[in-house]
Amino acid sequence: MPKSISGFSKLSKRGKLKWMVENFFKDPELVMKELKSYWLPDEEQQKILDGFSENTISNFHLPFSVSPNWLINDQTYCVPMVIEESSVVAAASSAAKYWQSRGGFKAEVLGIEKLGQIHFTYAGRVEDLQTVMPALDKRLRQDTAALTANMEQRGGGIQRIELKKIDNGPKYAYTLVVFFHTADSMGANFINSVLEVMAQSLRKYAAGHPKLKQGELTIVMAILSNLTPQCLVRVSVTSPIDQLACPGTGISPQEFAKRFHLAVEIARADPYRAATHNKGIFNGVDAVVISTGNDFRAVEACGHAYAARDGQYRSLSFCSIDDGIFHFWMDLPLALGTVGGLTSLHPMARRSLELLENPSAESLMKIAASVGLAQNFAALRSLVTIGIQQGHMRMHLSNILSRLEATEKEMKEALVYFADRAVSHGAVQEFLQLLRSQAQVEGDLSV
Ligand code: MEV
Repeated sequence: MPKSISGFSKLSKRGKLKWMVENFFKDPELVMKELKSYWLPDEEQQKILDGFSENTISNFHLPFSVSPNWLINDQTYCVPMVIEESSVVAAASSAAKYWQSRGGFKAEVLGIEKLGQIHFTYAGRVEDLQTVMPALDKRLRQDTAALTANMEQRGGGIQRIELKKIDNGPKYAYTLVVFFHTADSMGANFINSVLEVMAQSLRKYAAGHPKLKQGELTIVMAILSNLTPQCLVRVSVTSPIDQLACPGTGISPQEFAKRFHLAVEIARADPYRAATHNKGIFNGVDAVVISTGNDFRAVEACGHAYAARDGQYRSLSFCSIDDGIFHFWMDLPLALGTVGGLTSLHPMARRSLELLENPSAESLMKIAASVGLAQNFAALRSLVTIGIQQGHMRMHLSNILSRLEATEKEMKEALVYFADRAVSHGAVQEFLQLLRSQAQVEGDLSV
């Protein structure tokens, strides 16, 4: 039975690690050694990583990849991607190259507005709330002026404040919705700090107001919303259909375009397919978001909520075929930053941004959305032609081989053997056993 502990957070890093391995692992010394082997040799750098979270005992590595040849609005990028799933970077790179010779990706930011909410209950007349809104708006801005001054200098700040009654919400529940621009920062901390001060300001204002105080205004909570439909980027690719060659598939450009269009229409209509379709988009988006130190949970929450904006969960991307022209596009809400937070603290995030030539938040939105659309294109191209497994399992093969500790020679032979055979863990294991027993026999014979 695992032991519990009090005061764990007060132990030193070594103390935490020691307690954990001694209580949960069969070979504490081995695990201790292994986890310590992932500590960075530079103590200062390690301290920076440790500072991002709590109770850190080691580092959890993910591959840092790059994908070249991204033509986005006539500018070429080499894009950093952090992802653990094999074939995502290969698929993205192949789609980037494909579209590089067909005009590249066109991306446009349609809006940069973020929002936060102050939820409160109020049992009085809604008209009284509405009447005080202009004065309240002024008061809330005044009381947060010290917090917003710096952001205003950077071109951001509070845009407007609206009063909303939540549709079908709890009785007496209202929301003050505060809209923000946050310049090149994602702005979560800034928004939440402003909202918390505003919530107190609202409470005091209501308590001192002759009419509002009778309605017993009570603050419930103040927090940003991760649904930012007005912080939106549009990305597209376009090509005459006869230029949509799919070498190696035996499928004509016309047939490919037809199947591709159908696949998108299915994902528009069927939530089960849409979830997988959109997951493919986020394979690309998240990889860029993580590599640049942005919040991928926020990005995913927003994207999936947006995908259900008309009441049904649908594909985020669209496809049209008109007059022989193939058009594939998506609108994606993306709240990203290129300054502040982890973007400037994480050494690898800093390098990622440098690789992208230190983009503005809007440029990063365009890049991440392009990678998402490319990923979606690559997945659908495989799905409607040769299927996903052929390419995917090829990549998976090298993972299985590494796990089974195959030598370089064995790897080479496996690649040839599995070129036209189904890859599975069992099949690879069997193949290696055979190879190893043959090598053993040959070794015995040569003695
Ligand atoms: C796998 O990570 C992503 C795909 O399933 C996406 C899709 O089906 O469109 C291949």
